[in-house]
Amino acid sequence: MNKRIEDVLNKQIKAEASSSHHYLAMASWAEVQGYSGVAKFLYRQSDEERQHMLKLVRFINERGGEAIIPPLSSDAISFNSLQEVFEQLFEHEVEVTRSINEVVFICLEEKDYTTHNFMQWYVAEQLEEEALARDILDKLKLIGNDKGGLYLFDRDLENFNTDSVANGGQ
Ligand code: FEO
Repeated sequence: MNKRIEDVLNKQIKAEASSSHHYLAMASWAEVQGYSGVAKFLYRQSDEERQHMLKLVRFINERGGEAIIPPLSSDAISFNSLQEVFEQLFEHEVEVTRSINEVVFICLEEKDYTTHNFMQWYVAEQLEEEALARDILDKLKLIGNDKGGLYLFDRDLENFNTDSVANGGQ
């Protein structure tokens, strides 16, 4: 496997692993705060990010490269509000989109059309995930600290089906 492609894909593994880990921390925080719907949504998001990571691990290894599973960062992860959780989630998604674009750019530079084709699933996925994160954040800004609004928000997220967004219908 082309070394430059292998390196940038390994960097992407790290980005997906970091998202999964952060979303897990968010889910646990939300659960402790009593936001069971938000927690359910975030646990599911965390699982989906792990699937994104695994897909890359298998792709690299099957093509003769070596996937590198990154160590966990020792930085503490903490939150003060739902707004902060979803602001961080949105920023994460924007950063992941930026790094996916970098992978695609390098694929074209290296004329690696197989990896370029493989990455198109991630491009489409990010478009939806970023839009979803922005949408949720906008809703939270409208709700502010209104307790009734937050109650309904929590209930809505509990029933939110992300399968089509995060798994591309797979
Ligand atoms: Fe797999 Fe939401 O980045």
